[in-house]
Formats: sequence, C-alpha cells, structure tokens
Amino acid sequence: MARLKQKKEDALWQADPSLPKHVAIIMDGNGRWAKKRGLPRTAGHAAGAETFRRIATHCKDLGLDYLTVYAFSTENWKRPPEEVSAIMGLLDRYLHEAIEKMERDGIRLRVLGDTAPLSEELRALIARTEEISRGITGFQANICLNYGGRDELVRAARRYAADVAAGRANDLDEAGFASYLYTAGIPDPDLIIRPSGEERLSNFLLWQSAYAEFYYTSVLWPDFTEAELDKALRDYLGRSRRFGGV
Ligand code: FPP
Repeated sequence: MARLKQKKEDALWQADPSLPKHVAIIMDGNGRWAKKRGLPRTAGHAAGAETFRRIATHCKDLGLDYLTVYAFSTENWKRPPEEVSAIMGLLDRYLHEAIEKMERDGIRLRVLGDTAPLSEELRALIARTEEISRGITGFQANICLNYGGRDELVRAARRYAADVAAGRANDLDEAGFASYLYTAGIPDPDLIIRPSGEERLSNFLLWQSAYAEFYYTSVLWPDFTEAELDKALRDYLGRSRRFGGV
C-alpha cells in the first residue's frame, strides 16, 4: 500500500513541469555525522558518498535533468592529508563503479573543476567516464571536484582575454561569458540545497546561483534521504520565482 502510494506520488512528481530541472547540493555535515557516532571523519565521507548514490538515482527517477554536487572545493586542500586522500579514494571508487554501470543506469557524469592537480589515475578515470557519458542521453550528475566559484570566474576571464588577444573573440555578453565556465551548456541550478544547518554558499556556483532558490535543512548529509529531497522539492514548488520581474 505504501509502495503504491509512493508510486502514485512519483508519477505525480514526474508530471509536474514546474519541478526544478537542475538541483545543486552542498554535501555538508559528514564530519559532524561521524563525530556524533565516535567514528573518524572519513567514515562520514564514506556515508556521504553513499547518500550521493541514492540521491542521484532519486533525481533521475523523478525526471530531473541535472544534479550538481560539491564534493571537494579549491579550499579543501587545507584539510589533513589523510582526509584529502580518503575523499579522493571515495571518488576513485565511485568513478570505477560508474564506468561499470553508468550505461545500464542511464546516468551521464561530468566532473567540474580544475582537475590538473589531481592524480594521473583519477584524471584518467574522469576522462573515461566523460567519454562513456557522451553516448548516454538523459539525466546528468555533475561532481564539482577541486572547484571554486571565484577560481572558475578568474579562469573564464583569463580564457576570454586570451581569445580576444588571439582574435577569436571580441564583444562579451552574459551568455558569451557563461560559455567560458565549467558549466558551459548546463542550465543554471534552479534549487540549491545545503544540509547540516550552515546557511552560506561557500564559493559554490557563484555565477550560476544568481536566480537560484535556496533550501537549508539541519539534517546532516549522510542522513539526507529521498524523503528529504522531496521535502525540498515541495518547498521549491511553493516559491514564486520572478527573476527580477513582478
Ligand atoms: C563537507 O562536509 C563534505 C566534504 C568536504 C566532502 C564531500 C565528499 C563526499 C561526500 C565523498 C565523495 C563524493 C562522491 C560524489 C562520491 P564536512 O566534512 O565539512 O562536514 P562537517 O562540516 O560536519 O565537518
């Protein structure tokens, strides 16, 4: 009975054209989740990676087009080296798995950020998953890795200046500038979710968030369930988006 109700609800969601096309999430609270259980912080990240798997599948099942998650920022290198390598290890494992099953699952993957400082192995995995993704249509998950909003804007400005100097570009408008960002070709997020009770953007999608709706919850990311996402979506559906109009 509960399953039937859930199925009906899912069908209803899928039919709703006002659902966001693109949801972005700051996966926060892994460390506190682990601390509460007397576990090392890295156990929190492992649980967080599991949550990402579940939520990505749920977004796809609901018919959303994009999910973008903040996995590692340009500032996260300041964390203890063992924590950094644990996060990289989880990404490595996730990409290995994705290569095996992303075609079956119908999930396209992109990694957004400066991949140059990452290990050669991780970069090869990213290249392989993006290559497989080109043959898949439908839902896309974007993992922001060594990503910083300010860094992205500075890089875009540099690349634009280089194109001007080389005679490849002249006048610049907003759409033209957006084409220099990591997110080129991806629509802006409609909804940005931050769990764990923190209410800030932390250098995430600075340009792209201009008209995003924000949703905060005190739930820690490893505890974030499909029902929590549904709650955020319901809240979003009640918002009036005016994009500067009336
Ligand atoms: C923020 O929580 C979380 C991170 C910096 C890492 C997020 C990484 C993962 C969930 C694992 C890899 C991801 C994928 C997509 C496989 P925090 O550590 O700042 O938590 P705290 O504020 O409670 O300390």
